[in-house]
Amino acid sequence: MKWTKKHIISINDFSREEIDFVLRKSAIMEGKLFDSRTSSLMNGKILANLFFEPSTRTRMSFEAAMKRLGGVTIGFDHPGITSEVKGETIADTVRIVSGYADVIVIRHPVEGSARLASEYSDSPIINGGDGANQHPTQTLLDLYTIKKEFKDIDGLSICIVGDLKYGRTVHSLTSALENYNVNIRFVSPQELRAPRQIVKTLTEKGMQVKETTKLNVRDSDVVYITRIQKERFPDQQEYERVKDAYILNRKSLEGIQDNAIIMHPLPRVSEICTDVDSTRHARYFEQARNGIPVRMALLCLVCGIGFG
Ligand code: CP
Repeated sequence: MKWTKKHIISINDFSREEIDFVLRKSAIMEGKLFDSRTSSLMNGKILANLFFEPSTRTRMSFEAAMKRLGGVTIGFDHPGITSEVKGETIADTVRIVSGYADVIVIRHPVEGSARLASEYSDSPIINGGDGANQHPTQTLLDLYTIKKEFKDIDGLSICIVGDLKYGRTVHSLTSALENYNVNIRFVSPQELRAPRQIVKTLTEKGMQVKETTKLNVRDSDVVYITRIQKERFPDQQEYERVKDAYILNRKSLEGIQDNAIIMHPLPRVSEICTDVDSTRHARYFEQARNGIPVRMALLCLVCGIGFG
């Protein structure tokens, strides 16, 4: 694959070999991070963060990644301060910014917006989340976290819990898992089941897939729990009905496998009680930290900067 100037829009655009390549490069980058907290690999390069939706981790970890590489960042974290309020389209905004920056990260509430942006940009576009659709860099750091823990993703039992309908991290992760040989248990309220196409594709690829409304953490190597996403519900009464459907606390972890890990893309609301944070199973904070080496590796790859 040619990585220089590649747009990172959907995990579906990656083969298993390409995903594994990014994970290997991320490990090399993490090794370099331990050696030296900053580098000059991206000296003179500019990253533009175009965030039309709120974010803590994605925006700040891309910013931290770029700065650790010696580059600089420009951008916005709220569209209210941009010319969008005067009616400028995404296409025009991206056309302009691609003349200012060497790489662009975009988060937008509309599905397909990152793909659209890539059609108007001379600089590589990285999708930082488009509506309920995709969040490919989150998936890469999720897989990196799993691989660091278990060495091998094949053979694992993965329980994915919560908002499977609107959760873009779930949609990206399950698309990536199509490339591996895993057992998947989807746990959600009926109203928030995973899209039928995702379940169909996984089943056709020979994965063992179960769907249930009952959360049981036993027998899973990875419990990947997600927030019920209030902002994506057209009907707020429906949100109120399901918002506390699954809550992990220390007591609910009884029977969990010794080496099982609990992951969450964060932010959490009520679905993981803080008494889980100090258990040996909690990996969600480490998972968020893994965003740094993974995003550093991706920035170098799409900007054509060699390392390791
Ligand atoms: N996981 C994630 O995308 O977090 P943010 O919304 O804070 O970027």
